[in-house]
Amino acid sequence: MVKVKVFDSKEATSRKRVAAAAPQHDAASFHAVVEARRSVRIYADEEVPEDVMRRCLASAQLAPNSSNLQVWEAHWVRNPDQRRELARICMGQPAAVTAPELVVFVARPDRWREHNEWMIRRLKSDPKTPAKGLQYFEKITKLVYTLGPWGVFRPFKWVWFTVRGWSTPTPREPLSLAQLATWAHKSTALACAHYMLALRAEGFDSCPMEGFDAWRVRRLLGLPRGAKVTMVISAGRRAEGGVYGPRFRFDLDTFVKEHV
Ligand SMILES: Cc1cc2nc3c(=O)[nH]c(=O)nc-3n(C[C@H](O)[C@H](O)[C@H](O)COP(=O)(O)O)c2cc1C
Repeated sequence: MVKVKVFDSKEATSRKRVAAAAPQHDAASFHAVVEARRSVRIYADEEVPEDVMRRCLASAQLAPNSSNLQVWEAHWVRNPDQRRELARICMGQPAAVTAPELVVFVARPDRWREHNEWMIRRLKSDPKTPAKGLQYFEKITKLVYTLGPWGVFRPFKWVWFTVRGWSTPTPREPLSLAQLATWAHKSTALACAHYMLALRAEGFDSCPMEGFDAWRVRRLLGLPRGAKVTMVISAGRRAEGGVYGPRFRFDLDTFVKEHV
């Protein structure tokens, strides 16, 4: 059996690492932003300033993402005709039609290999890059995310994951294009959350939408089939009555499962 050390916990904890400073924040302000964010379905007739949009998109890009491969894109649809068409493709929902801004968040599992090469190039250009860091992108990511042309490696990977998994914890996915898409959607969805919270922190509002025709969205933006639309997010200033009702969540214990 092939032996691959995915993560050496002893080495990771023993090695001397430079700790990044952990700044203190105003936690109350953060929680207030989280609580104040609501999905807004009707927006006021007011623009979102361009610098606000740019800051919020930059915050979105700071979201954590798998292997830092950044297989995501935020398509800011600024052309008024395209935006009208996008709102139509979003089933004419008021959250899209009344919004001054629409951003389409797109997962790009099809670009992981290219981004992996960007990472390798960047790491190689820095003489301080530890060998392990480079090895991660030269070996591990390739092993984990490669499915082969028409998925020919999938059965071999399945056997390898399964056999290895009998004796040792083994990451078992992705084994299909659908799982690779899920992988990319996870990171993209985190960018969406960052974006919406950043908008609220700036005093603006948003609505995430998956009520759209993904095929038409891809065609409108000129995206290939391998690009997967995660969400369309509208943004603007909430109008009176733009939030449809009080916020409701099930009891916290339906969500938080404590294993003590
Ligand atoms: C992935 C996703 C898709 C959603 N799609 C839509 C949508 O198409 N239209 C809509 O009006 N709201 C949509 N929502 C908003 C949810 O309905 C909303 O987040 C939920 O009701 C909770 O309300 P809150 O966001 O105000 O806390 C979506 C939310 C998410 C996360």
